[in-house]
Amino acid sequence: MASPITGLLQCDSPAADDEPDEGLDLTAEEEANVLADAAADDAVEPEELPLELLFDGEVPTARSFGLRKLSLEQLGKFVFFDEISVPKRRQACASCHDPAAGWTLRDLKINNGQVAAPGAVPGAVGSIKTPSNAYARNIPLRESCAPSELPCGGLFWDGRAEGNDTPVFGGSTTHIGAEVFKGRATLESLFGQYLGPLADQALQPFPNEVEQNISEKQVCKHVAKSFYSLLYVLAWGEKIDCSPAGFMLSFKRVAVALAAWQSSAEVNSFSSKRDKALAAEIKVEGADVSFPLRGLTDQENRGHDLFYGKAGCALCHDNSPTAPAPDPTTSAGLAAIRRMGLERDQLYTDAVFHNIGVPANPLIPGPEGSLGLGQRRLGDENLRGQHKTPTLRNVDKRPYKSFVKAYTHNGWFKSLESLVHFYNTADVSGATAAGFGITRCDESRSWTEAQALAANCWPKPEENGTLAIGGFFGDLALTLDEEAAVVAYLKTLTDTKTVRPPLLLQ
Ligand code: HEC
Ligand code: HEC
Repeated sequence: MASPITGLLQCDSPAADDEPDEGLDLTAEEEANVLADAAADDAVEPEELPLELLFDGEVPTARSFGLRKLSLEQLGKFVFFDEISVPKRRQACASCHDPAAGWTLRDLKINNGQVAAPGAVPGAVGSIKTPSNAYARNIPLRESCAPSELPCGGLFWDGRAEGNDTPVFGGSTTHIGAEVFKGRATLESLFGQYLGPLADQALQPFPNEVEQNISEKQVCKHVAKSFYSLLYVLAWGEKIDCSPAGFMLSFKRVAVALAAWQSSAEVNSFSSKRDKALAAEIKVEGADVSFPLRGLTDQENRGHDLFYGKAGCALCHDNSPTAPAPDPTTSAGLAAIRRMGLERDQLYTDAVFHNIGVPANPLIPGPEGSLGLGQRRLGDENLRGQHKTPTLRNVDKRPYKSFVKAYTHNGWFKSLESLVHFYNTADVSGATAAGFGITRCDESRSWTEAQALAANCWPKPEENGTLAIGGFFGDLALTLDEEAAVVAYLKTLTDTKTVRPPLLLQ
């Protein structure tokens, strides 16, 4: 019988080790342990284990730490796409975070209706829109971040997956700390980078009854019995332990694997039209690179200039925003704008919490209105309605052209066009709204987006805490052509690569 690690040994040529040597190679003894563990694992069916399949083609070499890291990422990928739920095989992470829909819900009817995703149990449903889990900034929540001195970081719309050793706000989720390296201290320098909000977040969906609805112990057992359990052994150097004393630690290590995969180059491919046009331009212009980019249309380039200038989007949708936006009517201002947005790794979010005044969505289940960060410090009126700025990468990624996506935390907006029109005119007493004949919708009833657009009115914001309307936006004086240019620019942020489930799960 072939050894389960045959493929691995075949690729293990010490001379041709192209993995960067991070000075932390497996010792011969460690490697022997890993291989012995793998061979001893009776849940592993050797003939079902071509390593090429476990690694989607490229098998890392055994002598490098790349093996551990790639095994951890691959483990995370399998778990992400595997339907691990109660009832069985009803829900995976990918059921709500579908790569083809920009890592959000691939269900046009729900996006157009209740917005919130159904859970594994028939009838169970959440109460907020699924955000993208790709390009998620793994920065711990802080109470005050430069330059705005507002809270930033954490994951979830309200930042409750804080990623902090000591919570800074009320109601944070369980934190994964260095305990996952118990007995495997040498792994901390390699895997420590994955601790933080992403790993903390990954503890939540499994036991959540409106999501996968499965206990930590059952998740452990599922992974132990799966054909990909070898990846756990290769990553952590020991078999997964689902004993009463061990399952929680193993579950946390699976969460770290999910964080590792979600941090990988596969999930964060930076393969959009904008990324490609920028890379091509840098090749020609070097350090002198600036907009317009040859690889974008005139309209897209114009959208860029508006995004960083007149429309002020980059005041929030930028990793390190500067305020105020440069004045595009001066030549110095325009030159400054054209040198903005050139970062290869730009994620289009300040990770700060703001209230942009999204109207209440009468169709989304749950209590009316979402307090956002206000939920974390009840009584603090200023925080009510503040939600974390989402990334703009893949906002227009959809499986086909007429597919409807829902935008903002309660999915009230159904198109980028209407959301940009809102940014332009939400200040209903401002000159821009007046120019378009827009008024405040009747406040005594609730409105869907379609109803409000038909009546040419904006409903009142669902929460009033520290509204950004009137300050940052709402009266932008954009023409319809300019709105369309901003939307065209947003559409250049769509990855051309679409992650497929591992072959063995397809
Ligand atoms: C039933 C649908 C559903 C499933 C299943 C699900 N998610 Fe989510 N996910 C959501 C929703 C909804 C939110 C936002 C919740 C909130 O902010 O309160 C979210 C938020 C997130 C975020 C935070 C993104 C950000 O920028 O704040 C990440 C990361 C994430 N999910 C990853 C995962 C992983 C990993 C799994 C599987 C273990 C998973 N999700 C399973 C619906 C789902
Ligand atoms: C004051 C900060 C701020 C400014 C300025 C701003 N945004 Fe946003 N944006 C946010 C926040 C916060 C959200 C989420 C709000 C919520 O869900 O309640 C958001 C949501 C979005 C979304 C929805 C993304 C999704 O996944 O649901 C898009 C698209 C968007 N903004 C584009 C823009 C554009 C284009 C501009 C400029 C015209 C702009 N934003 C200006 C903070 C800002």
